[in-house]
Amino acid sequence: MKNVLVIGSTGQIGSELTMKLRREIPGSSVVAGYIPGAEPKGELLESGPSAIADVRDAAGLARIADEYRIDTIFNLAALLSAVAEKRPLMAWDIQVNGLLNILEVAREKNIAVFTPSSIGSFGPETPRVDTPQDTIQRPRSMYGVTKVATELLSDYYFHKYGVNTRSVRFPGLISYVQLPGGGTTDYAVEVFYSAVKGEQYVCPIAPDTRMDMMYMPDALDAAVKLMQADPSRLVHRNGFNIAAMSFSPEELFSVIRSMEPSFSWRYEVDPLREAIAASWPDRMDDSCAREEWDWKPVYGIEETCRDMLKNLRIKLNKK
Ligand code: SER
Repeated sequence: MKNVLVIGSTGQIGSELTMKLRREIPGSSVVAGYIPGAEPKGELLESGPSAIADVRDAAGLARIADEYRIDTIFNLAALLSAVAEKRPLMAWDIQVNGLLNILEVAREKNIAVFTPSSIGSFGPETPRVDTPQDTIQRPRSMYGVTKVATELLSDYYFHKYGVNTRSVRFPGLISYVQLPGGGTTDYAVEVFYSAVKGEQYVCPIAPDTRMDMMYMPDALDAAVKLMQADPSRLVHRNGFNIAAMSFSPEELFSVIRSMEPSFSWRYEVDPLREAIAASWPDRMDDSCAREEWDWKPVYGIEETCRDMLKNLRIKLNKK
């Protein structure tokens, strides 16, 4: 991993992953790929090269790959679950047709590809607790359908053409840097903004609906560590279950209130998001990731809440 293209570099994961790679991979050149309207700014723009990288433009991707001699692509372009439900054809176009464009360029130019999958790749028939690595995947959301297709296409290109594809199934990701854009797990980020601003939080997910969650530093470590893993140890490829913590809204809000005593909340459940959330695992079994590439998270719910509140107070200039 030396010359890297991050597609979706200004998004929820990309904005932090691009900076981490620039800081931590010695001698690397990391191109911040973006689409018009979502240009990189500030440190992201100034700390390295950037280029328009639209997954729907195969020729454009090939040009960037040649110009920067790209050897690794982190493909983070996606519509999240709630938005994908409103624009299903666009979600398919970006997540599936876009991935095919990337995989074709990768096949021709010998490029490794990381494309995240998600807890969203599971569905109502999937075992909810200790969800196995290899199990039923029959999601009913378009987001989930595209994520299963993503896993299968990535495996197909590995088995048929030897393309070095790897991925993880991310849980809901929590971060203070960039807001997620229209996912089912967004509540676990938004709530911290309300808590720090002293506003009552109105939660769209039911009090007891559990989902897997992860703090962003662990998620970024997973992506980098998997791409650096010894291929001879990998039995699986696309995508590995990874887990760090699992909670319901009520449990998360209680921990936040123990740290921010004036915090209050109420529920106005959104049927669309709740139906998606209820079909996702409570907690994935991540033993394959632990065995095959030494995955190990650092942040639990308490550490996450403490760090989020501390950093958001600084970001929002509170206290
Ligand atoms: N965080 C995503 C969503 O809620 C799931 O991977 O859509």
